[in-house]
Amino acid sequence: MNVPSTRTRFRLPSRAVLATCAVAAVAVLSALPVLAAPADLLARYAAEAGRAPDAARGQQWFHARHGGEWSCASCHGDQPTQDGRHASTGRTIAALAPAANPKRFSDEAKVEKWFRRNCKDVLERACTPAEKADVLAWLTTLK
Ligand code: HEC
Repeated sequence: MNVPSTRTRFRLPSRAVLATCAVAAVAVLSALPVLAAPADLLARYAAEAGRAPDAARGQQWFHARHGGEWSCASCHGDQPTQDGRHASTGRTIAALAPAANPKRFSDEAKVEKWFRRNCKDVLERACTPAEKADVLAWLTTLK
């Protein structure tokens, strides 16, 4: 006798359904004016990038120069759980890692403003969503 397989009845959602959910999630997240937590921002950058964030790549990218004089570490320090020092003014910059400084990555407008300015200084272009996702993934792993 032929027993019908339960597998055929409980199938995973199709790719089309998953894609629709992903698009809906991006739409909902982008509509939020202010994000409350670094994890929200990270999820959004990753969705925009269309791939999972890579913390190791973010760490390497943060410490590398990208053709110019400065890396992110030039001002934010090699250990972003500690205060940094501005490469040209010498002013102290509070720690960039959220574990050490809970205000970080909590105000989207501020984050975007500084990404714009700092990416221009370091890369002479805007950072991509993938670069932002990778670096934020790394920063949120720091304790
Ligand atoms: C020339 C110095 C300098 C360099 C280089 C630099 N930054 Fe910054 N960054 C600052 C200053 C100054 C602030 C604003 C002061 C503050 O928030 O303490 C800031 C703030 C930020 C913020 C705001 C975070 C928040 O939520 O408050 C982010 C994100 C950031 N930087 C990322 C980067 C990244 C990524 C790089 C490398 C591409 C980089 N920065 C390179 C000086 C620098």
